[in-house]
Amino acid sequence: METKISASILSADFGHLSDELSRAEKSGCDMIHFDVMDGHFVPNISYGVPVLKSIRKYSGLPFDVHLMISDPNSYIEPFANAGADGITFHLEATANPVGIIDKIHSLGLRAGVSVKPKTDVSLLYPLVGIMDMALIMTVEPGFGGQGFIPETLGKIKALREYAKAAKAAKALDIEVDGGISDITAPLVREAGANVLVSGSYLFKATDMAYNCKLLKD
Ligand code: DX5
Ligand code: ZN
Repeated sequence: METKISASILSADFGHLSDELSRAEKSGCDMIHFDVMDGHFVPNISYGVPVLKSIRKYSGLPFDVHLMISDPNSYIEPFANAGADGITFHLEATANPVGIIDKIHSLGLRAGVSVKPKTDVSLLYPLVGIMDMALIMTVEPGFGGQGFIPETLGKIKALREYAKAAKAAKALDIEVDGGISDITAPLVREAGANVLVSGSYLFKATDMAYNCKLLKD
C-alpha cells in the first residue's frame, strides 16, 4: 500500500496557519491532521469547529479530523459541516462505535476509529470491514512532540494480519500518530501502517519537503 502523510498542524505556527497549510501542501503531504482535544478525554485543549471552518479554504488537501473528546457523537455533524473529509473518534469514548461510524458515513465522510497505547487492539477487530481507517496511537494522546512507544508496533502488525485474513471488501487504512520521524517511520510501515501522522518532525523542519519524503521512503 502506498504510504500517505497526514501533517498534524498541532505543531504549526498558529499565528500563520494559512502559510503553514500551504507549506504542508507544497511539501508533498497528502492530508492535514486536525487534532481536537477537550481537556477531559485528554489533559489538554486545542481547537475546534470554528478554527476548522475558518482555515478549510486555505488547503486543497483532505482534512483528517482526530477527535480526542469524551462525547464524539455530538460533534460529528458540526465537524462535517465545517469541512472535515474524514473523522476519527476514540473507541474508549463510546459504547456504540458502529452507530458513530454509520453517522459519519451518512454524511459522506470517511470513518476512523482510534485506540490509545494501552487499549487492546483486538477490540477493533469487529469493526474491520465497517470502518475505513484504524488509528493506532503510538504515544498517549494529548500532546505533540512525545517519544514513540515501541510496544505499539505489535498492535499494528496484529491488526494488519487480522485485516488481511478477514479479506474485508475495502482495504483498511492503518494510521499511526505520535513520535513519527525518519527513525520510526520505517518501523511502522514495516509493521503494516500506511497513513503516518507527523507533527513536530514536519513543522519544526527547515526543509519540510525533505522530511516528508524521508517519511515515505
Ligand atoms: C497527539 C496528537 C498528534 C500529535 C503528533 O495527541 O494526536 O497528532 O500532533 O505530534 P508528533 O508528531 O509531534 O508526535
Ligand atoms: Zn492526532
